[in-house]
Amino acid sequence: MNLLDITTRVVPPVAWAEGENIPWSDPDFSRRMLAEHLNQEHNLASRRGEIVDRQVQWIHNEVLGGRPTRILDLACGPGLYTSRLAGLGHECVGIDYAPAAIQYALETASREGLACSYRLGDVRETGYSGGYGLVMLLYGQLNVFRRSEARAIVERAFSALVPGGLLLLEPQRFATVEEGGRAGSSWYSRGESGGLFSDRPHLCLSEHFWDGESRSATQRFFIVDAGNGQVTRCAMTTEAYSDDQFRELLTRAGFRDLRFFPSLVGTEVDEASQAANLVVLGRRGTQCTP
Ligand SMILES: C[S@@+](CC[C@H](N)C(=O)[O-])C[C@H]1O[C@@H](n2cnc3c(N)ncnc32)[C@H](O)[C@@H]1O
Repeated sequence: MNLLDITTRVVPPVAWAEGENIPWSDPDFSRRMLAEHLNQEHNLASRRGEIVDRQVQWIHNEVLGGRPTRILDLACGPGLYTSRLAGLGHECVGIDYAPAAIQYALETASREGLACSYRLGDVRETGYSGGYGLVMLLYGQLNVFRRSEARAIVERAFSALVPGGLLLLEPQRFATVEEGGRAGSSWYSRGESGGLFSDRPHLCLSEHFWDGESRSATQRFFIVDAGNGQVTRCAMTTEAYSDDQFRELLTRAGFRDLRFFPSLVGTEVDEASQAANLVVLGRRGTQCTP
């Protein structure tokens, strides 16, 4: 793409038409994103360690009742939850398609001798076996899949759970997705040291759109290389769900005993990265049929 293509872009964009997500699985992007995951100054890609510590304690004590459990973390990133949960006696498997994040998770597990294994793969396609007591999908990731994909992920999680096993979702609240979609446009520049989207000097132009009819927000980025003017585009759509729609999603997959919590520490919290999401917990019944 070139600069002219920006001026002739479709406004508003059609949901999903211009891309699925930011390029998490691209090796260079993943390397740069890992630094953001681990950055303790913000909560952009993962929360800061002290927040993850509290959330993991809640999962261990309140969700799992302290019982050692086989845990599958879908879209696990650099394994910040799995490594801590393994340290508390659980056996963890993480799947993510970001190579640098998985490499970091593997190195942590090896260095600390943790009962964690990791797979580099797309959670929509990667096969996984059953026998889990807990499957989780955290930090708003459910919403970044098409509704049909989210349904398939929830159904596969159901199949991977032992009877009585739990699905722990931390999706974005409806209002979070809508507010994000109404955030307008912004831009920033990065110099010689580069930034998240490029190692080279560049401009990042970003715009957000809310589509009330499809109840989705689309964010579009144009990355303009400052040296040669070449433009790279990426876009992602985030689906908004009401509480009733979460209920229907899990119930149709066979989950029972649904419980909603205001955050991953079980209570209302002011801190923005936690307050943006809610927590939905469902149980696979002890009967094997949904
Ligand atoms: C916001 S980060 C959260 C990571 C981790 N759950 C945490 O809270 O630290 C989102 C993660 O989802 C992963 N992801 C997004 N879509 C994915 C997909 N289709 N398959 C596998 N991983 C995916 C990204 O690579 C990234 O690591």
